Amino acid sequence: MKEIVVLGIETSCDETSASIVINGRRVLSNVINSQIDIHTLYGGVVPEIASRCHTEVINQVTKEALKQAGKTFKDIDVISCTYGPGLVGALLVGVSYAKGLSYALNKPLVGVNHIEGHIAGNYITYNKLEPPFLCLVISGGHTHLVHVKDYCNFEVIGKTRDDAIGEAFDKVARVVGLGYPGGPKVEQKAKEGVPSINLPKANIDNLDFSFSGIKTAVINLDHKDPNINKADLCASFEKVATDMLTQNTINAFKQINNENNKKIDKIVLAGGVSANSYIREQFEKIGKEQKIDVYFPELKLCTDNAAMIASAGYYNYIEGKISDLKLNAIPNLKIGG
Ligand code: KG4
Ligand code: ZN
Repeated sequence: MKEIVVLGIETSCDETSASIVINGRRVLSNVINSQIDIHTLYGGVVPEIASRCHTEVINQVTKEALKQAGKTFKDIDVISCTYGPGLVGALLVGVSYAKGLSYALNKPLVGVNHIEGHIAGNYITYNKLEPPFLCLVISGGHTHLVHVKDYCNFEVIGKTRDDAIGEAFDKVARVVGLGYPGGPKVEQKAKEGVPSINLPKANIDNLDFSFSGIKTAVINLDHKDPNINKADLCASFEKVATDMLTQNTINAFKQINNENNKKIDKIVLAGGVSANSYIREQFEKIGKEQKIDVYFPELKLCTDNAAMIASAGYYNYIEGKISDLKLNAIPNLKIGG
């Protein structure tokens, strides 16, 4: 089989990343330039600053990805970039750059949905992993239960009605004084405490999620008693939020297998929040109990990176899903859209 060399470009939020991946699975390079230090000064991502930073570094990041892969622009077969969802100004930098390269090199351009990219990160970690499976995508902007029917065929069967889980982690971190980026800090703090504080679990009768209730409860408790044990609060938040994730995911797994002829036997996690060790432990435990195989992307592929975009780009390309130079950034792009 001919090797297809894909250049991936990711600029949807606060990471500028470029990567070279062969046939959607073999990563030759994955360069990530994080803007965390700059945004930390403001307590969160400032969209205008993010766009400017992407513009400043995208060319160097791409050249470094080529260098580390031992390739030149001429060796690239396909150029793939994230075109949504994300911050419009940030997305536009990657989309414009990729369009410029596609035109100059006369190579096909493939626009990739960022969430589908997160799912594809697992194809890199697990070389033999193939659809169908159920994927729980948990990130700063998304909480989706996705029935991955094939590489480019997705059905969203549950999603958050309000905050994304990562957003809730970030907000809890800010309220208890841990700063940005919040998820990893809440995880560390939770390890020093016990989940002894009662927090409300959303009561929803389908496969959707809701995290605004638990987030508000944490804020109110902290305001009422500024001396509340922060480690216990973080541990309690992490536990209740994780319970909501595991319960819905197991219900979704059962529903798919009741309704579809093509059964699934795997649960796959994706997105920045899937780096959380407590969440990973709980899914592993439930997987063992229920005899379901559970997959997590390796840590560096959980958060935003271009290797996952190159992988998704490859599968779009071989299915003939190629973009043209009219490709635009779509900040609220839906999965499968
Ligand atoms: O996937 P990602 O890099 O960006 C989006 O597509 O949104 O996810 C970023 C989110 C942030 O909310 C961050 O706080 C969260 O993932 N996150 C974590 C952990 N590492 C990153 N949340 C909980 N525990 C972690 N270890
Ligand atoms: Zn992401």
